[in-house]
Amino acid sequence: MNAFRNVKLGINIDHIATLRQARLGDFPKPWMAARAAELGGADGITVHLREDRRHIQDFDLRQIKRVINVPMNLEMALSADIIKIALWLQPEKVCIVPEKRRELTTEGGLNVIGAQKALRRAIPQFQEKGIEVSLFIDPVRRQIEAAHRLGVEAVELHTGTYANAKGERRKRELRRITHSAQLAHKLGLKVHAGHGLDYQNVRAIAFIPAVQELNIGHSIIGHSVFVGLKSAVREMKRRVTDSRKSPRGSSPKSSR
Ligand code: PXP
Repeated sequence: MNAFRNVKLGINIDHIATLRQARLGDFPKPWMAARAAELGGADGITVHLREDRRHIQDFDLRQIKRVINVPMNLEMALSADIIKIALWLQPEKVCIVPEKRRELTTEGGLNVIGAQKALRRAIPQFQEKGIEVSLFIDPVRRQIEAAHRLGVEAVELHTGTYANAKGERRKRELRRITHSAQLAHKLGLKVHAGHGLDYQNVRAIAFIPAVQELNIGHSIIGHSVFVGLKSAVREMKRRVTDSRKSPRGSSPKSSR
């Protein structure tokens, strides 16, 4: 039995912005994805404002915050520019992540011990504004203990290695995450988990009693294409066919 009756589900909508940025246009709009995710039952909306602004843009943050009724979780690197934006935006939560310019996605957990000095400066600035702070870390005892010493409210355990592993290695990684979650919970930290979780591998992680929240993006956005592609094509097909009957028509309800 899970110690927490329900595991909360935060939806990362960065990839909607990735799709928009592919054309540098204004569609699809991340705020519309945030609303749709909320209607689907999302308990939170997660976005990562990367230093290179490859997907989410500054204006997205304002728009998303304005339209959602669930907590906003801003993933961010410890850079002065991003800290300033986060303090101004005041999302309900921030999750501090490591960031490398050339990575495809966040590759590993934060080295809390190495970044201690900067974290010690930044964390109270968020907490003074009532923003909950979480650190994205590998499921490793010394990182959890260091996070605890810094006085953050939560840790997000990196599930990427688990997601990529197979067979025995995956089982070993699951045990590591389970023990880490137990330790963090015992220390009074909220336990979140995320990265690489999909419809197949999520169950074992959601089953861990100490895990309170999952943040999932890529697999859900990818799956949504196939859940919606058939009707999107059907709608276009109808329009193309109908245009021979009457050249004027209305725009689809779901787009701009
Ligand atoms: N949690 C954190 C801290 C992340 O950096 C990411 C990726 O942006 C996720 C969760 C979501 O990962 P995925 O897109 O693989 O589900």
